[in-house]
Amino acid sequence: MTFNNFYQDKIKVLKETDLYRELKVFDNMGDEVIGYKGQKTSQKYLSFASNDYLGLSQNKLIKKNAIEAIKKYGFGAGASRYITGNNHLYFELEKQLAIFKKAQDALVFSSGYACAIGVIPALVGEGDLVIADKLIHSCLLDGIKLSSAKLIRFAHNDLGHCQKILQQNRSNFKKCLIVSETVFSMDGDLGKIQELQDLAQQFQALLLSDDAHGLGLDNLKIKQLPNYHLQMGTMSKAFGAMGGYICGERTIIDYLRNFSRSQIYSTALPPCVLASCLTSLKIIQKQQLAKKALTNAQFFCELMNIPITESAIVIINLKTTKQAITIAKNILKQGIIIASIRPPTVATPRLRITFNALHNKLQIKKLAKILKLELAKNKI
Ligand SMILES: Cc1ncc(COP(=O)(O)O)c(C=O)c1O
Repeated sequence: MTFNNFYQDKIKVLKETDLYRELKVFDNMGDEVIGYKGQKTSQKYLSFASNDYLGLSQNKLIKKNAIEAIKKYGFGAGASRYITGNNHLYFELEKQLAIFKKAQDALVFSSGYACAIGVIPALVGEGDLVIADKLIHSCLLDGIKLSSAKLIRFAHNDLGHCQKILQQNRSNFKKCLIVSETVFSMDGDLGKIQELQDLAQQFQALLLSDDAHGLGLDNLKIKQLPNYHLQMGTMSKAFGAMGGYICGERTIIDYLRNFSRSQIYSTALPPCVLASCLTSLKIIQKQQLAKKALTNAQFFCELMNIPITESAIVIINLKTTKQAITIAKNILKQGIIIASIRPPTVATPRLRITFNALHNKLQIKKLAKILKLELAKNKI
């Protein structure tokens, strides 16, 4: 049938251009991962590819509290929050998130993705303007597309460009939303949030910053989230669990509770996830694990003689997609997983190496040694 040819052709093109995505099976055990070849053969790998930055997915207390919640409330929530799915742990988690983020209120979603596609179309629509950093995550872009607002993008972290767009366009639109990230997921560098906040205030815009890859270390520096700054994040990375959140000014959060479709028309999170997130949040606030993840990443940069990262993410840029795939495959053969990231996820191919609080110096030295050899083999 002709429609089948369409899909087949699309897959063929992906395979020919090294962009075909194949799901592999891995059981996550923290810094270690069990990979499977077929049903019987399994192998242990050292993982530098997860976003479980603090290793909390394996934390004993978090697991215990999740199990206790399952025993008490069962597994699933059974309904959306607005019917009977709103376990009391939701309110407790939102209260604690707001305190942690120095915001007036917070709203929890079932994932960071659900948060982005629920929040942005509720905040802006036709006749409004979104000004977004060139490197924002796909979920934010999907949210912007869903909103029907006009999108103009500024060059990555280029405040002058952002300001120019505001000067030239702000008065032609009703509402304006500036979108950026605290830590760029596929580049590992930090967004210029304080400066964007100043621009938002000057041009009467809202700022949405995505702290999905944040480690919670910056929170001490902030006195209070201003009422024109909304910060979203995810509980699927440093929290080691699942879920998303937005925090900010009370009226806006209340408005989002009533207008974010992905939060209203979707089943509530299982109570055990909420219980585990609450425990994660308590651990995150102590900050030791975040500091360990960051120093691990920075130790690796020193070993590799590359610029010192300010996040738990290290990127090695490459010329071709084939290079990214080959190097990651060769490293995998030596028992270590790192991610090869290709278009369309990013504009240019790269290796993405992530560090967590569970890694030790010996493991990091092993990775650096193997990677240096692989890069040299490929003349990089
Ligand atoms: C910057 C950023 N925002 C949002 C998300 C989505 O979060 P979640 O995985 O909880 O859906 C991701 C996930 O990869 C991300 O990297």
